[in-house]
Amino acid sequence: MSETSPKLRAELEGVPTYKPGKPAAAGGPVAYKLSSNENPYPPLPGVMEKVTAAASAFNRYPDMACTGLMNELAERFGVPVSHLATGTGSVGVAQQLIQATAGPGDEVIYAWRSFEAYPIITRISGATSVQVPLTPDDVHDLDAMAAAITERTRLIFVCNPNNPTGTVVRRAELERFLDRVPADVLVVLDEAYREFIRDPEVPDGVELYRDRPNVCVLRTFSKAYGLAGLRVGFAIAHEPVAAALRKTAVPFGVSHIAQEAAIASLRAEDELIGRVGTLVGERARVADALRAQGWTVPETQANFVWLRLGERSVAFAEACERAGVVVRPFAGEGVRVTIGETEANDIFLKATAEFPQEA
Ligand SMILES: Cc1ncc(COP(=O)(O)O)c(C=O)c1O
Repeated sequence: MSETSPKLRAELEGVPTYKPGKPAAAGGPVAYKLSSNENPYPPLPGVMEKVTAAASAFNRYPDMACTGLMNELAERFGVPVSHLATGTGSVGVAQQLIQATAGPGDEVIYAWRSFEAYPIITRISGATSVQVPLTPDDVHDLDAMAAAITERTRLIFVCNPNNPTGTVVRRAELERFLDRVPADVLVVLDEAYREFIRDPEVPDGVELYRDRPNVCVLRTFSKAYGLAGLRVGFAIAHEPVAAALRKTAVPFGVSHIAQEAAIASLRAEDELIGRVGTLVGERARVADALRAQGWTVPETQANFVWLRLGERSVAFAEACERAGVVVRPFAGEGVRVTIGETEANDIFLKATAEFPQEA
């Protein structure tokens, strides 16, 4: 066999691998998965029926334009269909956004640490990542991000709330930042956790996008809506950007099942609001209990909490796993823990109570 392998793009050499949250151990002691910011609830009412019906037609390709879902989203957000684009999860749409804007020699700015897909999809496109460290309080440093803009900047991600810290940027600072970004640089407001926000000072990106043609809002059905496994996300952006997203989409990427499930989930909004409210209540209970135990917990507006454990992050995650909950360590930095079922949260709090706070 020849030693020569096909020529692959040099950029792929440096692509970091996406680390999915570890699954709960099968057959082990009670184990809850709090490692992927998923929703612990079963599908919303009416969703399974639609999914089951849609499954009988999967010998056919789905509607590539996602017409039904687009119409539903247009009405829900008060935007024209031409301002919408869907993709295989919001990470798929994020990748389409980079493909549409940046290539070799271009720069993509984002906070760090933030969503771990950003460096991967930037590198794959051949563009250069410009990572701007979070402030010591684990919040986006928007002044430093504005200062990092060069004539090579093509796209800026603002992850609000930020994954994995849960921290937010508020209206005044975000508007000030947007005013500083040149009109030909796209700002992507990644609002994967939007539904969990309770701080009234955090702006809804959809309001900010309306009179700013360089702002794009990214949303997903994976988190609050509980459809992570079906892979459907969407963007709201002005026409040239939304049109570019449709061009860069994988044809037929959003299945018929996913489209039907997303529509049914949007129509089950009352139940959704109740479930999100319960998770937000659990978030407050967990954060308060952690602080009562003496932990420092950044203010979170997402469905997870962040513990900056530094070098002890992996050991802490192992202790949690022994206790029965799988969490997400970022070695040397911290641990992100999804808010789950009450029993899972209780197991986590027991583990934190027992883990020494100082090495
Ligand atoms: C900030 C952020 N954006 C986007 C995503 C992607 O989610 P999905 O591709 O399931 O829509 C995630 C998932 O963890 C996330 O945390």
